[in-house]
Amino acid sequence: MTSLTLKNVLLLGGTLVGVSQAQFGSHELYTSSPPVYPSPNATGTGGWQDAFARAQAFLAELSLEEKVEMVTGTTGPCAGNIKPIERLNFNGLCLQDGPAGIRQAIYASVFPAGVVAAASWDRSLMYHRSLLMGREFRGKGAHVALMPVAGPLGRHAQGGRNWEGFSPDPYLTGVGMEESVRGMQAAGVQATSKHYIGNEQEIQRNPSSNSSNQTIEALSSNIDDRTMHELYLWPFANAVHAGTASIMCSYQRLNTSYGCQNSKSLNGILKEELGFQGYVMSDWGAVHAGVATANAGLDMNMPGGIGFLDPTPSFWGANLTTAVNNGSVAESRVDDMVLRIMTPYFYLGQDEDFPFVDESSSVINFFDPATWTYNYTLGPVVDVRDGHAQLIRDLASAGTVLLKNTNNALPLRAPRYLGVFGNDATEPEDGLYSLNLLAGIDAGNYEDGTLAIGGGSGTGRFTYIVPPLEAIKRRSSQDGTLLQYVLNNDKLAQNPYFWNLAPTPPEVCIFFAKTWCTEGADRPNLDLEWNATALIANLASICNNTIVVTHSCGINDLAPIAANPNVTAILAAHYPGQETGNSIVNILYGDVNPSGHLPYTIGRNVSDGVIPLVNSTELLNTTDPNAWQADFTEGQLIDYRHFDARNITPLYHFGYGLSYTTFNVSDLSVTNVDAAGSVPRLPPALPVQPGGNPTLWSTLLRATVTVANTGEVAGAVVPQLYVSLPQAEAGPGTPVKTLRGFDKVYLEPGESAEVGFDLLRRDLSFWDVGAQQWRLPTGAVQVAVGLHAGDLSESTSVTV
Ligand code: NOJ
Repeated sequence: MTSLTLKNVLLLGGTLVGVSQAQFGSHELYTSSPPVYPSPNATGTGGWQDAFARAQAFLAELSLEEKVEMVTGTTGPCAGNIKPIERLNFNGLCLQDGPAGIRQAIYASVFPAGVVAAASWDRSLMYHRSLLMGREFRGKGAHVALMPVAGPLGRHAQGGRNWEGFSPDPYLTGVGMEESVRGMQAAGVQATSKHYIGNEQEIQRNPSSNSSNQTIEALSSNIDDRTMHELYLWPFANAVHAGTASIMCSYQRLNTSYGCQNSKSLNGILKEELGFQGYVMSDWGAVHAGVATANAGLDMNMPGGIGFLDPTPSFWGANLTTAVNNGSVAESRVDDMVLRIMTPYFYLGQDEDFPFVDESSSVINFFDPATWTYNYTLGPVVDVRDGHAQLIRDLASAGTVLLKNTNNALPLRAPRYLGVFGNDATEPEDGLYSLNLLAGIDAGNYEDGTLAIGGGSGTGRFTYIVPPLEAIKRRSSQDGTLLQYVLNNDKLAQNPYFWNLAPTPPEVCIFFAKTWCTEGADRPNLDLEWNATALIANLASICNNTIVVTHSCGINDLAPIAANPNVTAILAAHYPGQETGNSIVNILYGDVNPSGHLPYTIGRNVSDGVIPLVNSTELLNTTDPNAWQADFTEGQLIDYRHFDARNITPLYHFGYGLSYTTFNVSDLSVTNVDAAGSVPRLPPALPVQPGGNPTLWSTLLRATVTVANTGEVAGAVVPQLYVSLPQAEAGPGTPVKTLRGFDKVYLEPGESAEVGFDLLRRDLSFWDVGAQQWRLPTGAVQVAVGLHAGDLSESTSVTV
């Protein structure tokens, strides 16, 4: 590692990076962000060597101006654009959102949100979700997909973008990242793992101006080194290990230094420690300096300009050329940027037969084509959906979590009289697209209509949507069911006498409730919106078989409805994508046995485990440019780790989810791959590969359990393995237990199967801040397996 002195950092000419913590006094503990320069050069190690050589040959043909254009975004048809160079048969790069499918397109699919993929706990579905998405991106001529998401991780239950990613558990999110990167890149499209790092709330993610026109800097997420490694960095390490082409640096500050000019997190952690060989791309408008960002390790400035919508002027572009010419930025740094950008391009064969950008992309871009500075060759409008609806439906069903099912209320058995209630059951009335900057960030938060995806850049443009009511109508007509519905939530607040139902209450009442989330805003609370909790109570007062389905971005306060004896079933379906109605009907009628599990914990008391957002009237009116500070003082103890540490029993545990059958877990056995105590406590020094020291990824323990379907119907079970490190050795702040393995296994009634888990060195180590290494404990490690975090029926201890 090369760390320059403070003097040298200042001489680099940019914003002072990460050395000003002392002024924040108590923040000091959390704000260690030492300068790390120079930016490590890529070598193509880890399997990209041939592509790296081709990138070198490409680079050799470029003038300095062309190199700078390769790394600075420009206007064009896509969300982000790199200019074509005809002379070299390079058609440019098209970068498109987002994590639920290609957004800026028509005739494309809207897939289930990341949180649904996480709730499926199904590696194969996570992979195929991304693979099929990738085929759609490629079909539309998009070289780079701006997904998957591991930041926010989900520190705040109220975080506006948690649903785009997977889970507040880093292991589950790490699996989601790895499968998503592999799936996307198997389709020949570059994955962009985002937002690196600490982007946990939306409020003040960017700098603002106060009433005196004074710049107030963005929020600083202040994260200590161990928490950084064991929690927030963990899933990004999976992404790098899986070969992610790109990493998008985040808007907010990290330990007081902007995410896209933090030399510690970019040069130090990402490129040096994790051996990242791809390129760091800025979030849109996240670049607040020229020289400082280039030297801190940023490789691509998006969309190129200072502002979000206006690509000119830019801190880079011609300014970067000047910086190279006057020696502020070494040309070798710009060369490294180009090599990092072009290596994955060649590795994924994007120079061969890659479709031109779909014509439809441009019409819905922010930019008016008349203002384009470059001519792009556009291809025809193509339909890329290609039967992907089946996977979308299957995944949404597999990710639906059955939280309550008393008296076997579900599955439905040809009900004679069914009622459907709530404003989430039917057609979205205000349009099928939730990113309309003119309409504001609440553009998709309409009162009437089902919520199948959230808002902002992570939304999708529906080509069609199957609302729950439509799918229920179709299915219930097969049984000759009397179907009545009341969809207006104002009406549902009235005395049920006024609902004009058939003379008696329905035999079964299904209430569809929703909760809106979008980029650019955080949630005001954890309620089911549009007064749904009170309306459910009103409905349940006349209907003693009330089933609640939630379409929500994440954690809701479910305690009141869980406690209501007339609410017989609760299904958390999150944001299921375009097939929403069909996937919930499959579950309601038992065509698919529920197998989703919560990727987070729900407290009994709504405030249990909830870390408040940083926000206040005082902050909103501050005159202190550095007033916005988020000290992550809870360290690793978020979500179930918080409940464990304080011995609080939640309403629904992390990993919880019911089935229409029952399962049993038995016979846990754990064996050492090498003799206990024989492996070195610190990983042997080896050349860094993408993902870090390669030894971190080697298996040290193998665990097996037997799972059995003890019920009457076929279904899928998810045995979950948790590891507890010896507290005395691992030190204060060590979680009581952490998820370190899971699998999803389909079993016929009466069938059983053995399930194996490989525990890697990283799974069994803690981050030793002094040694700056992952350290294995010498004491006994507890390994426990069960059906959720609160039901670990099998456990044993083992010395590694
Ligand atoms: C800003 C968002 O934070 C990011 O996720 C997205 O990819 C870009 N805008 C481009 O739309």
